[in-house]
Amino acid sequence: MNAKQEYRPAYQLSLVDPSEFWRTAAESISWDVSPTQILDTAARPTARWFPDARLNTSYNALDRHVREITTPEGTSGDQEGGRAEQPALIYDSAMTGSRRIYTYRELLDEVARFAGSMVRLGVKTGDRVVIYMPMIPEAVIAMLACARIGAVHSVVFGGFAAHELAARIDDAEPVLIITASGGLEPGRRVEYPPIVLAALDLAQTTAPRTVLVKQREGFPTIRFPAEQAATEHLPASSESVVARWLDWDEAQVGAEPAEPVSLAATDPLYILYTSGTTGKPKGVVRDNGGHAVALAWSMRNIYEVAPGQTMLTTSDIGWVVGHSYIVYAPLLVGATTILYEGKPIGTPDAGTFWRLVDEYKVDVMFTAPTALRAIRRADPDAALAHRHDLSSLRALFCAGERLDPATYEWSVETLLAEHPDCPVVDHWWQTETGWPICANPLGLQRLPIKAGSASVPVPGYRLRVLDSEGNAVAPNTEGNIVIGLPLPPGTLTTLWRDDARYERSYLSAYPGHYLTGDSGYFDEDGYLYVLGRSDDVINMAGHRLSAGGIEAAIAGHPLVAETAVVGIPDELKGQRPIGYVVLKAGVDIEAERLRAEVIERVRDRVGAIATLYDVVAVTALPKTRSGKILRRTMRQIAAGDSYEVPPTIDDAAMLPTLEKQIRDAVTLMEDKERIAAADAEADATS
Ligand code: COA
Ligand code: AMP
Repeated sequence: MNAKQEYRPAYQLSLVDPSEFWRTAAESISWDVSPTQILDTAARPTARWFPDARLNTSYNALDRHVREITTPEGTSGDQEGGRAEQPALIYDSAMTGSRRIYTYRELLDEVARFAGSMVRLGVKTGDRVVIYMPMIPEAVIAMLACARIGAVHSVVFGGFAAHELAARIDDAEPVLIITASGGLEPGRRVEYPPIVLAALDLAQTTAPRTVLVKQREGFPTIRFPAEQAATEHLPASSESVVARWLDWDEAQVGAEPAEPVSLAATDPLYILYTSGTTGKPKGVVRDNGGHAVALAWSMRNIYEVAPGQTMLTTSDIGWVVGHSYIVYAPLLVGATTILYEGKPIGTPDAGTFWRLVDEYKVDVMFTAPTALRAIRRADPDAALAHRHDLSSLRALFCAGERLDPATYEWSVETLLAEHPDCPVVDHWWQTETGWPICANPLGLQRLPIKAGSASVPVPGYRLRVLDSEGNAVAPNTEGNIVIGLPLPPGTLTTLWRDDARYERSYLSAYPGHYLTGDSGYFDEDGYLYVLGRSDDVINMAGHRLSAGGIEAAIAGHPLVAETAVVGIPDELKGQRPIGYVVLKAGVDIEAERLRAEVIERVRDRVGAIATLYDVVAVTALPKTRSGKILRRTMRQIAAGDSYEVPPTIDDAAMLPTLEKQIRDAVTLMEDKERIAAADAEADATS
């Protein structure tokens, strides 16, 4: 590795001369046509990086590492090639007790063959492919195969239900949907083909398409064509489904391996849908060139992972963290990545992450604070961790939500007490940015860590904290966190086929700046503290949920007149969503039945990951004079915080009643939780 650069000059250069900064960073990528222009600030809706360059992301992630080395220096350092026999992808399933290691050569072969089978099925450059799969290697292979032929993948998290999948199908209009016969969750199996069928039935677009199914052991074998096999799970209207169903393995028989296609750096690599304020998901578009450059830069300079080292990221490929740091970034730099199918606890216990670290000699790990809290709750003394050799671990990164000081301190003082040289690093980012906005850049310079802070802005991100008028606030004053344009490479280029929404959502609030949707403050040393969303996005267990999307599901209940969903603090999951409903006039329903029915509706429409914590009937919702629900006020009341009566409220006299109804419901819920915990403890000791 090159000698370390200091953080401050690197950051300054990235702002003063971004072209020079990213021109150097771009040297780590193999281009078909090298960039001569680095930044096109005239591009719309936002500046574009490397506008005249060409490359293939799958070539950069696979082929170039497999190449024979012809120079006499050998395989050391950043030397390209010579990694054919090095593990590229380690699949470890705590759900099935199995594992499989793919070397770079094997992964390349699988990806090229599967890409060839997609070409034979008629998938072309620019076509969209939806991937709706559990955490199995075929999901990674499918992503890289799309990248190889220039098809634009859109991975949909396996925990989303048919309705959410349908919304994404309607927006992306894929020609191919790739799924598996099933996913494994603790205590239950998720059969995907019936969900795909139901989604196709719900989707408005009628374009013909193909569904490929990877058959997993232990799930009902799908007979092909599969319409007949799966329609029994479907509503009667399923005749409208237009799809041919094929088997993943059979589709590959006799397929010629596909060569990587040369793409413009600005061509889309993928679309990843994320939750916004409304129920309609936002299709974040990532390009090929900026993405490859930024991720490779981040591996060296933030995570400090070198070629040949091993990274464990415990997210899901359905989230951005999985896209970037399970799949693309480790492979782009010739490292080894681990695809873990399982949970932090209960599969089989809270030692499972530490087993992975020990077994695969993980250099750098990346997880969510909620996972650490779950482990701490199950194993407060970290006894299971201490049974494993964690000496390979050089850093533990956290993101998805703020790493709260208590969890940080437990991680340092208990979990990693014997490893004082292994820093625990909070870093902040979003689906939209694709890589960290703020971090402690270990590969540049290890800065002092402050508990509760995501540290300092990463080179490329011109961060500011503004008040509602657009003025910069003083240190230690909370405001809206924005990023000065241009955004660095690798960040979103637009929303899929919706430049106008992109501009409206992100660029219009503060001209010249990208609105992150998070609020927070800088301290006097320039460390950023991210306090939470300033919009109606709920962040539960590191999963981003839209209050509007859950409300749309609840609104369909026949007895509900209107509803508001807010997230309130939760010790384990960071936030938990509560649904407040106003019933239609004259109707009555027992509280427990309403709760069960509404929760079921949300699970059915959004998915199990959006399970509501509680449902509370109230007589009225607080609104502005123009009819907008004052969710912030509701959030404050539900969390027991003090609040100011908003000047825009239509009827301030309703607030005391609302407050009483909400507080009574919270007390009832807490009582129930106490009783359930006492029962569980009594069961455990009897
Ligand atoms: N496919 C289908 N269903 C899924 C799923 C998937 N890929 N992922 C989760 N679900 C379901 C679960 O089975 C569960 O269903 P249930 O209510 O029927 O039991 C529900 O969604 C909630 O799951 P989860 O959020 O995992 O909650 P949990 O209570 O089972 O586990 C934690 C709690 C903290 C262990 C878990 O949330 C966790 O590991 N969080 C970390 C998340 C993370 O890494 N995020 C990435 C941010 S970088
Ligand atoms: P997602 O797009 O799903 O990755 O969620 C992004 C959101 O998660 C951010 O806008 C923040 O609200 C929150 N988030 C992610 N990482 C952090 C962090 N380290 N600190 C505080 N909030 C975070």
